[in-house]
Amino acid sequence: MHGNYRPFRLTDNGDLEVLDQRYLPFEKRIRTLKSGADVVAAISDMTVRGAGVIGNVAAFGMYLLAREFPQDFHRLERESMRIRSSRPTAVNLMWAVDRMLEKLRQSRQMVADARAEAIAICDEDVARSEAIGVLGCDLIEHIMHNHKRKHINILTHCNAGWLAIIDNGSALAPIYEAHRRGIDVHVWVDETRPRNQGASLTAWELQESGIAHTIIADNTGGHLMQHGKVDMVITGADRVTRCGDVANKIGTYLKALAAQDNHVPFYVALPLSTFDFQSCNGINEIDIERRSEDEIHMIRGIDRQGTLRELRITPHHAKGANYAFDVTPARLITALITEAGLIDANEKAIKALQ
Ligand code: MRU
Repeated sequence: MHGNYRPFRLTDNGDLEVLDQRYLPFEKRIRTLKSGADVVAAISDMTVRGAGVIGNVAAFGMYLLAREFPQDFHRLERESMRIRSSRPTAVNLMWAVDRMLEKLRQSRQMVADARAEAIAICDEDVARSEAIGVLGCDLIEHIMHNHKRKHINILTHCNAGWLAIIDNGSALAPIYEAHRRGIDVHVWVDETRPRNQGASLTAWELQESGIAHTIIADNTGGHLMQHGKVDMVITGADRVTRCGDVANKIGTYLKALAAQDNHVPFYVALPLSTFDFQSCNGINEIDIERRSEDEIHMIRGIDRQGTLRELRITPHHAKGANYAFDVTPARLITALITEAGLIDANEKAIKALQ
């Protein structure tokens, strides 16, 4: 059941247990993080991932650092830069570290204050996710009403459910809410190569919640749109500039192009903490993560005997390039679904949020 589980939890002795997303949907492995260095490793190797959850785990990473250096703010600040740079694109990570530093700068009890602030960040994310769900679902109902439809087909890319932002996700929050309201919703799930967050994580989440869905190869969306089988697209975001350009998982841009060509509305759901008010032109200004080419060459799954294996699918010595995100220009986005309402993807509307 969604909303009742988070991909991390603080244990009684103050360590952070995280669900190791690299093994889903086949195994529910828990990894225990005890230090700032553990958090850096877990974010970099994608044990935890998704913009919101990276921010939450980073906030708890600051708490773990406070436990390590309870009397030494300057050491903590230096060490925190490792957490801050453990992945470059999702802005929630930097936002959470900066907010924690601000809180701790004058603190006389860093451990207790860090713990309380990390919990506060999580509580706020839960409220944001819930608000996005309600607003996004009102939008779904509006689209169904306008098109006189009794059911709706929504396409999503990557994973923007509770594994990525607590407790209901961003892009999936309106879908969970639609399911709660009894709306007949079906989700097209992009597999999302190379790491397959759609095929392994989004599909798993939807299956756990009993929501109808179909996994499609990444290149299928355009074809479905041409045949009227997609009523709307909702994706999440890792960073949105003040001019409305959206960085999200690689392949999002191509879906937005296909959506525009086929007059399918393209929405991006995000909490306000995903805005980067410093940048405007996302294509020039957003740092796009490049990851190991192994993620292109190798694929993980279970064989027919149920054994988890990693297999190579490209020729030995072949060269790969692994860009983890792309930028969808504001002009391709119908609107942004935020906890503050539906926002036009332009500078005037976004600046008004500050
Ligand atoms: O590389 P990942 O798996 O961390 O990328 C995640 C995404 O691109 C999500 O769509 C994004 O974080 C939005 S969900 C809060």
